Amino acid sequence: MANLLSLNELSLQEIDHILDRAEEIRKMGNEGWLEPNHQLVANLFFEPSTRTRFSFETAEKRLGYQVLNFSSKASSTQKGESLYDTVRTMQAIGVNAVVIRHRQEGYYRQLAGSIHLPILNAGDGAGDHPTQALLDLLTIRQEFLLFQGLTVAIIGDLRYSRVARSDAEVLTRLGCRVLLSGPEEWKNDALPGERTTVDEAVEEADAIIMLRIQHERHEQSMKMTKEDYHRRFGLTQERASRMKHDSIIMHPGPINRGVELDGELVESDRSRYFKQINNGVVIRMACLEWALQTGKGAEIHERVAEKW
Ligand code: CP
Repeated sequence: MANLLSLNELSLQEIDHILDRAEEIRKMGNEGWLEPNHQLVANLFFEPSTRTRFSFETAEKRLGYQVLNFSSKASSTQKGESLYDTVRTMQAIGVNAVVIRHRQEGYYRQLAGSIHLPILNAGDGAGDHPTQALLDLLTIRQEFLLFQGLTVAIIGDLRYSRVARSDAEVLTRLGCRVLLSGPEEWKNDALPGERTTVDEAVEEADAIIMLRIQHERHEQSMKMTKEDYHRRFGLTQERASRMKHDSIIMHPGPINRGVELDGELVESDRSRYFKQINNGVVIRMACLEWALQTGKGAEIHERVAEKW
């Protein structure tokens, strides 16, 4: 078994194998659906989610796994049960893996040592979002084939976005030039990359990742109006007209149309927003196989072990 907590724990070779496997599954289309089997996975979402939660559930069903969905509002966490006791309960029930989204950055550290189940991190506070970063990588690789030498701009709420952290770190490891732009109060000096203006980032990037404003993590309400934000830091139609010829627009979702991104750009030819969501299913299938070592998941571990 293997946890998927942060991409920093995976070698570039493992990341490459997971991307290859996701692409292989994507090409199989409906033939990639497996017969029902005895793998039991619990999806524990303590924060709202649409894309991650439903693409994990779709991925689990396509792999033939049995799915337990948990609602924190209808669970014993309302009676004060801790995250540790909730996950330990899942282990006692007999689940084979847990997918967890939680508002606390690094929530998984409290589970280390006593939980003997693969944990797939579906987002921890402002920490990491490894499966989002993998689906972003797959989307970029489908477009440009290689990462080395690409310029990727990450624009917006750099301080509170877990997508910004996971993407900036892994893209840098893969040899991309990462440009970081956004409001001064949300800058993040811990991220690898070059600080630039939004205009420079938009004009120089091959892929532009616009970030959602993480209002729920802010200590103070935003100082500017949504219209001001869009004009100063958003991808307006005018800015988009200055993008490089083959460059693409990405966004992890959910999108606030007209704030981070002009509403019409979401469905424009340059946008890969819905492709990212689609890639999320096959990426999560590859990650589940890898973590549970089912299907070709075990082979990825073997291939990496042989290499080293
Ligand atoms: N990108 C993402 O994590 O979206 P959800 O919050 O809807 O899962």
